[in-house]
Amino acid sequence: MSYSSFDSPTDRRHRVSIIGAGRVGSTLAQRLVEKNIADVVLLDIVEGMPQGIALDLMEARGVERHDRLVIGTSNYADTSNSDVVVITAGRPRLPGMNREDLIKTNARIVADAAQKAIDQSPDAILIVVTNPLDVMTYLAWEASGLPQRRVVGMAGVLDAARFKTFIAMELGVSIQEINAMVMGDHGQLMVPLPRYSTVAGVPITELMDSATIDRLVERTRNGGTEVMELMKTGSAYFAPASSIALMVESILHNQSQVVPAAAYLQGEYGLQDIFLGVPCLLGYQGVERVVELNLTPAEMEALAASGEVVRQNVERAKVILS
Ligand code: NAI
Ligand code: 2OP
Repeated sequence: MSYSSFDSPTDRRHRVSIIGAGRVGSTLAQRLVEKNIADVVLLDIVEGMPQGIALDLMEARGVERHDRLVIGTSNYADTSNSDVVVITAGRPRLPGMNREDLIKTNARIVADAAQKAIDQSPDAILIVVTNPLDVMTYLAWEASGLPQRRVVGMAGVLDAARFKTFIAMELGVSIQEINAMVMGDHGQLMVPLPRYSTVAGVPITELMDSATIDRLVERTRNGGTEVMELMKTGSAYFAPASSIALMVESILHNQSQVVPAAAYLQGEYGLQDIFLGVPCLLGYQGVERVVELNLTPAEMEALAASGEVVRQNVERAKVILS
Protein backbone atom coordinates (compact mmCIF):
# COMPACT_ATOMS: atom_id res chain seq x y z
CA MET A 1 0.00 0.00 0.00
CA SER A 2 1.43 3.41 -0.84
CA TYR A 3 0.34 6.80 0.44
CA SER A 4 1.24 10.32 -0.68
CA SER A 5 1.60 13.10 1.86
CA PHE A 6 -1.99 14.16 0.98
CA ASP A 7 -3.21 10.64 1.34
CA SER A 8 -1.85 9.46 4.66
CA PRO A 9 -2.96 6.24 6.36
CA THR A 10 -5.02 8.22 8.82
CA ASP A 11 -6.82 10.77 6.68
CA ARG A 12 -7.90 9.15 3.42
CA ARG A 13 -11.27 7.47 2.94
CA HIS A 14 -10.48 3.84 3.54
CA ARG A 15 -12.20 1.00 1.73
CA VAL A 16 -12.49 -2.56 2.99
CA SER A 17 -13.91 -5.31 0.80
CA ILE A 18 -15.45 -8.29 2.53
CA ILE A 19 -15.79 -11.42 0.40
CA GLY A 20 -18.65 -13.45 1.87
CA ALA A 21 -21.60 -11.48 3.24
CA GLY A 22 -22.81 -14.17 5.63
CA ARG A 23 -22.95 -13.87 9.40
CA VAL A 24 -19.32 -12.96 9.99
CA GLY A 25 -19.03 -10.77 6.88
CA SER A 26 -22.22 -8.77 7.47
CA THR A 27 -21.50 -8.31 11.19
CA LEU A 28 -18.00 -7.13 10.32
CA ALA A 29 -19.46 -4.63 7.85
CA GLN A 30 -21.66 -3.26 10.62
CA ARG A 31 -18.70 -2.98 13.02
CA LEU A 32 -16.50 -1.20 10.45
CA VAL A 33 -19.02 1.44 9.46
CA GLU A 34 -20.51 2.04 12.90
CA LYS A 35 -17.02 2.41 14.40
CA ASN A 36 -16.18 4.78 11.51
CA ILE A 37 -13.19 2.64 10.49
CA ALA A 38 -13.83 2.34 6.73
CA ASP A 39 -16.30 2.28 3.85
CA VAL A 40 -17.26 -1.29 3.00
CA VAL A 41 -17.90 -3.34 -0.13
CA LEU A 42 -19.73 -6.58 0.66
CA LEU A 43 -19.51 -9.31 -1.99
CA ASP A 44 -21.35 -12.62 -2.07
CA ILE A 45 -22.32 -15.16 -4.72
CA VAL A 46 -25.95 -15.13 -3.57
CA GLU A 47 -27.46 -12.58 -5.93
CA GLY A 48 -29.33 -9.79 -4.13
CA MET A 49 -28.23 -10.77 -0.62
CA PRO A 50 -25.18 -8.48 -0.28
CA GLN A 51 -27.14 -5.67 -1.94
CA GLY A 52 -29.97 -6.12 0.58
CA ILE A 53 -27.61 -6.17 3.57
CA ALA A 54 -25.79 -3.09 2.25
CA LEU A 55 -29.05 -1.20 1.85
CA ASP A 56 -30.16 -2.21 5.34
CA LEU A 57 -26.82 -0.98 6.79
CA MET A 58 -27.08 2.26 4.79
CA GLU A 59 -30.58 2.85 6.15
CA ALA A 60 -29.32 2.28 9.71
CA ARG A 61 -27.17 5.39 9.19
CA GLY A 62 -30.34 7.45 9.66
CA VAL A 63 -30.30 6.35 13.28
CA GLU A 64 -26.61 5.62 13.88
CA ARG A 65 -25.67 8.94 12.25
CA HIS A 66 -22.42 8.08 10.48
CA ASP A 67 -21.43 8.81 6.89
CA ARG A 68 -19.72 5.56 5.99
CA LEU A 69 -20.76 3.92 2.70
CA VAL A 70 -21.70 0.27 2.19
CA ILE A 71 -21.97 -1.26 -1.29
CA GLY A 72 -23.37 -4.75 -1.89
CA THR A 73 -22.31 -6.63 -5.01
CA SER A 74 -21.58 -9.94 -6.70
CA ASN A 75 -19.07 -8.34 -9.06
CA TYR A 76 -15.37 -8.20 -8.11
CA ALA A 77 -14.88 -5.05 -10.20
CA ASP A 78 -16.81 -3.18 -7.49
CA THR A 79 -14.14 -4.12 -4.92
CA SER A 80 -11.32 -2.37 -6.80
CA ASN A 81 -8.78 -0.22 -4.93
CA SER A 82 -9.55 -1.67 -1.53
CA ASP A 83 -7.00 -1.06 1.23
CA VAL A 84 -7.94 -4.28 2.98
CA VAL A 85 -9.69 -7.39 1.65
CA VAL A 86 -11.25 -9.78 4.17
CA ILE A 87 -12.22 -13.30 3.08
CA THR A 88 -15.08 -14.83 5.04
CA ALA A 89 -16.54 -16.76 2.09
CA GLY A 90 -17.21 -20.46 2.58
CA ARG A 91 -19.07 -22.84 4.80
CA PRO A 92 -19.05 -22.63 8.60
CA ARG A 93 -18.96 -25.71 10.82
CA LEU A 94 -22.10 -27.43 11.98
CA PRO A 95 -22.35 -29.68 15.06
CA GLY A 96 -20.40 -32.91 14.53
CA MET A 97 -17.88 -31.28 12.15
CA ASN A 98 -14.37 -30.18 12.98
CA ARG A 99 -12.66 -27.32 11.18
CA GLU A 100 -10.64 -29.74 9.01
CA ASP A 101 -13.88 -31.16 7.58
CA LEU A 102 -14.24 -27.82 5.82
CA ILE A 103 -11.03 -28.11 3.76
CA LYS A 104 -12.72 -29.79 0.82
CA THR A 105 -15.56 -27.27 0.58
CA ASN A 106 -13.63 -24.11 1.30
CA ALA A 107 -10.25 -24.56 -0.43
CA ARG A 108 -11.46 -23.67 -3.93
CA ILE A 109 -13.77 -20.90 -2.70
CA VAL A 110 -10.94 -19.19 -0.79
CA ALA A 111 -8.30 -19.59 -3.50
CA ASP A 112 -10.67 -18.13 -6.15
CA ALA A 113 -11.79 -15.29 -3.88
CA ALA A 114 -8.18 -14.33 -3.02
CA GLN A 115 -7.09 -14.31 -6.63
CA LYS A 116 -10.10 -12.36 -7.93
CA ALA A 117 -10.08 -9.81 -5.10
CA ILE A 118 -6.34 -9.13 -5.27
CA ASP A 119 -6.52 -8.78 -9.08
CA GLN A 120 -8.78 -5.78 -8.36
CA SER A 121 -6.78 -4.45 -5.37
CA PRO A 122 -3.14 -5.44 -5.84
CA ASP A 123 -1.98 -3.07 -3.06
CA ALA A 124 -4.36 -4.44 -0.42
CA ILE A 125 -3.61 -6.27 2.79
CA LEU A 126 -5.45 -9.60 2.79
CA ILE A 127 -7.05 -10.91 5.99
CA VAL A 128 -8.30 -14.50 5.83
CA VAL A 129 -11.05 -15.72 8.16
CA THR A 130 -12.54 -18.81 6.52
CA ASN A 131 -11.83 -22.14 8.25
CA PRO A 132 -9.72 -24.12 8.68
CA LEU A 133 -8.01 -20.80 9.22
CA ASP A 134 -4.29 -21.53 9.08
CA VAL A 135 -4.68 -23.74 6.00
CA MET A 136 -6.94 -21.27 4.16
CA THR A 137 -4.50 -18.43 4.87
CA TYR A 138 -1.74 -20.39 3.15
CA LEU A 139 -3.94 -21.15 0.11
CA ALA A 140 -5.09 -17.53 -0.13
CA TRP A 141 -1.49 -16.31 0.00
CA GLU A 142 -0.46 -18.65 -2.82
CA ALA A 143 -3.48 -17.76 -4.96
CA SER A 144 -3.10 -14.01 -4.41
CA GLY A 145 0.57 -13.76 -5.35
CA LEU A 146 1.03 -11.18 -2.57
CA PRO A 147 4.20 -10.84 -0.51
CA GLN A 148 3.94 -12.92 2.68
CA ARG A 149 3.75 -9.93 5.01
CA ARG A 150 0.61 -8.62 3.27
CA VAL A 151 -1.39 -11.76 4.10
CA VAL A 152 -2.56 -12.59 7.61
CA GLY A 153 -5.16 -14.90 9.17
CA MET A 154 -7.57 -13.95 11.95
CA ALA A 155 -7.96 -16.41 14.81
CA GLY A 156 -5.59 -15.53 17.65
CA VAL A 157 -7.37 -12.29 18.50
CA LEU A 158 -10.60 -14.27 18.86
CA ASP A 159 -9.03 -17.12 20.82
CA ALA A 160 -7.29 -14.64 23.14
CA ALA A 161 -10.58 -12.73 23.57
CA ARG A 162 -12.20 -15.97 24.69
CA PHE A 163 -9.33 -16.74 27.09
CA LYS A 164 -9.61 -13.19 28.50
CA THR A 165 -13.36 -13.63 28.95
CA PHE A 166 -12.97 -16.88 30.88
CA ILE A 167 -10.22 -15.39 33.09
CA ALA A 168 -12.40 -12.34 33.83
CA MET A 169 -15.38 -14.55 34.67
CA GLU A 170 -13.29 -16.81 36.92
CA LEU A 171 -11.65 -14.00 38.89
CA GLY A 172 -14.54 -11.54 38.82
CA VAL A 173 -12.32 -8.72 37.50
CA SER A 174 -12.88 -6.26 34.68
CA ILE A 175 -11.84 -7.60 31.30
CA GLN A 176 -10.05 -4.30 30.77
CA GLU A 177 -7.40 -5.45 33.26
CA ILE A 178 -6.66 -8.61 31.29
CA ASN A 179 -4.22 -9.47 28.52
CA ALA A 180 -4.00 -12.95 27.07
CA MET A 181 -1.83 -14.70 24.53
CA VAL A 182 -2.87 -17.68 22.41
CA MET A 183 -0.53 -19.06 19.75
CA GLY A 184 -0.64 -21.96 17.31
CA ASP A 185 -3.40 -23.15 15.00
CA HIS A 186 -7.08 -22.26 15.33
CA GLY A 187 -8.01 -25.79 16.38
CA GLN A 188 -7.59 -28.45 19.00
CA LEU A 189 -3.81 -27.93 19.15
CA MET A 190 -3.95 -24.18 19.76
CA VAL A 191 -1.49 -23.05 22.41
CA PRO A 192 -2.93 -20.71 25.07
CA LEU A 193 -0.03 -19.30 27.10
CA PRO A 194 -0.90 -18.76 30.79
CA ARG A 195 2.60 -17.38 31.54
CA TYR A 196 1.94 -14.56 29.06
CA SER A 197 -1.65 -13.98 30.17
CA THR A 198 -1.97 -11.34 32.87
CA VAL A 199 -4.35 -9.50 35.17
CA ALA A 200 -3.09 -5.95 35.80
CA GLY A 201 0.32 -7.17 34.67
CA VAL A 202 0.39 -10.21 37.00
CA PRO A 203 0.64 -13.59 35.20
CA ILE A 204 -2.39 -15.78 35.87
CA THR A 205 0.03 -18.52 36.97
CA GLU A 206 0.41 -16.45 40.17
CA LEU A 207 -3.33 -15.98 40.60
CA MET A 208 -4.89 -19.40 40.01
CA ASP A 209 -4.02 -23.02 40.71
CA SER A 210 -3.00 -25.22 37.80
CA ALA A 211 -6.28 -27.18 37.72
CA THR A 212 -8.24 -23.94 37.25
CA ILE A 213 -5.85 -22.74 34.54
CA ASP A 214 -6.11 -26.09 32.73
CA ARG A 215 -9.91 -25.82 32.80
CA LEU A 216 -9.83 -22.30 31.30
CA VAL A 217 -7.27 -23.35 28.68
CA GLU A 218 -9.47 -26.27 27.64
CA ARG A 219 -12.54 -24.05 27.45
CA THR A 220 -10.58 -21.65 25.24
CA ARG A 221 -9.56 -24.48 22.90
CA ASN A 222 -13.23 -25.46 22.67
CA GLY A 223 -14.50 -21.87 22.52
CA GLY A 224 -15.77 -22.08 18.93
CA THR A 225 -17.27 -25.53 19.45
CA GLU A 226 -19.09 -24.45 22.62
CA VAL A 227 -20.82 -21.59 20.79
CA MET A 228 -21.57 -23.71 17.72
CA GLU A 229 -23.11 -26.53 19.74
CA LEU A 230 -25.37 -24.06 21.53
CA MET A 231 -26.37 -22.27 18.31
CA LYS A 232 -26.71 -25.47 16.22
CA THR A 233 -27.33 -23.51 12.97
CA GLY A 234 -23.86 -22.09 12.41
CA SER A 235 -20.88 -20.78 14.31
CA ALA A 236 -19.84 -17.69 16.25
CA TYR A 237 -19.88 -14.33 14.50
CA PHE A 238 -20.09 -11.42 16.98
CA ALA A 239 -16.70 -12.00 18.65
CA PRO A 240 -15.11 -13.00 15.31
CA ALA A 241 -16.34 -9.78 13.67
CA SER A 242 -15.01 -7.68 16.57
CA SER A 243 -11.65 -9.46 16.27
CA ILE A 244 -11.36 -8.79 12.54
CA ALA A 245 -12.37 -5.14 13.05
CA LEU A 246 -9.53 -4.72 15.56
CA MET A 247 -7.04 -6.04 13.00
CA VAL A 248 -8.44 -3.83 10.23
CA GLU A 249 -8.19 -0.79 12.48
CA SER A 250 -4.59 -1.58 13.45
CA ILE A 251 -3.70 -1.85 9.75
CA LEU A 252 -5.57 1.20 8.45
CA HIS A 253 -4.53 3.45 11.33
CA ASN A 254 -1.00 2.06 11.28
CA GLN A 255 -1.27 1.35 15.00
CA SER A 256 1.28 -1.49 15.17
CA GLN A 257 -0.86 -3.27 17.75
CA VAL A 258 0.70 -6.54 18.89
CA VAL A 259 -1.88 -9.22 18.21
CA PRO A 260 -1.77 -12.98 17.83
CA ALA A 261 -2.53 -13.78 14.18
CA ALA A 262 -1.62 -16.35 11.53
CA ALA A 263 1.57 -14.97 9.97
CA TYR A 264 4.03 -16.50 7.52
CA LEU A 265 6.98 -17.97 9.39
CA GLN A 266 10.49 -18.05 8.00
CA GLY A 267 12.42 -19.61 10.85
CA GLU A 268 10.68 -17.86 13.75
CA TYR A 269 9.92 -20.38 16.51
CA GLY A 270 11.87 -22.94 14.45
CA LEU A 271 9.11 -23.09 11.81
CA GLN A 272 9.35 -22.51 8.05
CA ASP A 273 6.93 -21.96 5.16
CA ILE A 274 3.75 -22.06 7.19
CA PHE A 275 1.08 -19.62 8.38
CA LEU A 276 0.54 -20.11 12.12
CA GLY A 277 -0.73 -18.04 15.06
CA VAL A 278 2.07 -15.95 16.55
CA PRO A 279 2.22 -12.49 18.11
CA CYS A 280 2.86 -9.88 15.45
CA LEU A 281 2.79 -6.14 14.88
CA LEU A 282 0.04 -5.10 12.47
CA GLY A 283 0.37 -1.83 10.59
CA TYR A 284 -0.40 -0.44 7.14
CA GLN A 285 2.17 -2.71 5.52
CA GLY A 286 0.51 -5.75 7.08
CA VAL A 287 2.58 -7.95 9.40
CA GLU A 288 5.41 -5.58 10.26
CA ARG A 289 7.18 -7.95 12.61
CA VAL A 290 6.71 -11.36 14.19
CA VAL A 291 7.41 -11.10 17.92
CA GLU A 292 9.47 -13.98 19.27
CA LEU A 293 8.49 -14.75 22.85
CA ASN A 294 10.72 -16.85 25.08
CA LEU A 295 8.93 -20.19 25.21
CA THR A 296 9.66 -23.13 27.48
CA PRO A 297 10.61 -26.45 25.84
CA ALA A 298 7.05 -27.73 26.52
CA GLU A 299 5.49 -24.65 24.91
CA MET A 300 7.83 -24.95 21.90
CA GLU A 301 6.88 -28.62 21.56
CA ALA A 302 3.16 -27.77 21.65
CA LEU A 303 3.67 -25.09 18.97
CA ALA A 304 5.65 -27.49 16.77
CA ALA A 305 2.88 -30.12 17.05
CA SER A 306 0.28 -27.52 16.14
CA GLY A 307 2.37 -26.43 13.12
CA GLU A 308 2.81 -30.01 11.97
CA VAL A 309 -0.97 -30.57 11.78
CA VAL A 310 -1.36 -27.37 9.76
CA ARG A 311 1.45 -28.43 7.41
CA GLN A 312 -0.21 -31.82 6.79
CA ASN A 313 -3.58 -30.15 6.13
CA VAL A 314 -2.01 -27.68 3.69
CA GLU A 315 -0.63 -30.66 1.76
CA ARG A 316 -4.12 -32.26 1.73
CA ALA A 317 -5.61 -28.99 0.52
CA LYS A 318 -3.04 -28.65 -2.27
CA VAL A 319 -4.03 -32.11 -3.52
CA ILE A 320 -7.70 -31.06 -3.51
CA LEU A 321 -6.85 -27.93 -5.51
CA SER A 322 -4.60 -29.71 -8.02
P1 NAI B 1 -22.04 -17.99 6.59
O1 NAI B 1 -22.52 -19.27 5.97
O2 NAI B 1 -22.98 -17.17 7.36
O3 NAI B 1 -21.43 -17.07 5.43
C1 NAI B 1 -20.59 -17.53 4.44
C2 NAI B 1 -20.94 -16.77 3.17
O4 NAI B 1 -20.00 -17.10 2.16
C3 NAI B 1 -22.34 -17.10 2.62
O5 NAI B 1 -23.13 -15.93 2.53
C4 NAI B 1 -22.05 -17.68 1.25
O6 NAI B 1 -23.03 -17.36 0.27
C5 NAI B 1 -20.71 -17.02 0.93
N1 NAI B 1 -19.98 -17.70 -0.13
C6 NAI B 1 -19.86 -19.02 -0.36
N2 NAI B 1 -19.11 -19.22 -1.46
C7 NAI B 1 -18.75 -18.00 -1.92
C8 NAI B 1 -17.97 -17.55 -3.01
N3 NAI B 1 -17.42 -18.41 -3.87
N4 NAI B 1 -17.80 -16.23 -3.19
C9 NAI B 1 -18.37 -15.33 -2.33
N5 NAI B 1 -19.13 -15.71 -1.27
C10 NAI B 1 -19.31 -17.02 -1.07
O7 NAI B 1 -20.76 -18.37 7.46
P2 NAI B 1 -20.06 -17.47 8.59
O8 NAI B 1 -20.63 -17.82 9.89
O9 NAI B 1 -20.06 -16.06 8.14
O10 NAI B 1 -18.56 -18.05 8.54
C11 NAI B 1 -17.76 -17.85 7.39
C12 NAI B 1 -16.45 -18.61 7.52
O11 NAI B 1 -15.66 -18.03 8.55
C13 NAI B 1 -16.60 -20.09 7.89
O12 NAI B 1 -15.64 -20.86 7.20
C14 NAI B 1 -16.30 -20.11 9.38
O13 NAI B 1 -15.88 -21.36 9.83
C15 NAI B 1 -15.21 -19.07 9.45
N6 NAI B 1 -14.99 -18.49 10.74
C16 NAI B 1 -13.69 -18.35 11.15
C17 NAI B 1 -13.40 -17.77 12.34
C18 NAI B 1 -11.98 -17.58 12.73
O14 NAI B 1 -11.70 -17.33 13.91
N7 NAI B 1 -11.04 -17.67 11.81
C19 NAI B 1 -14.45 -17.30 13.25
C20 NAI B 1 -15.79 -17.45 12.73
C21 NAI B 1 -16.03 -18.04 11.51
C1 2OP C 1 -14.85 -20.12 15.98
O1 2OP C 1 -13.83 -20.36 16.63
C2 2OP C 1 -16.00 -21.06 14.01
O2 2OP C 1 -13.67 -20.93 14.06
C3 2OP C 1 -14.83 -20.34 14.49
O3 2OP C 1 -15.89 -19.68 16.50
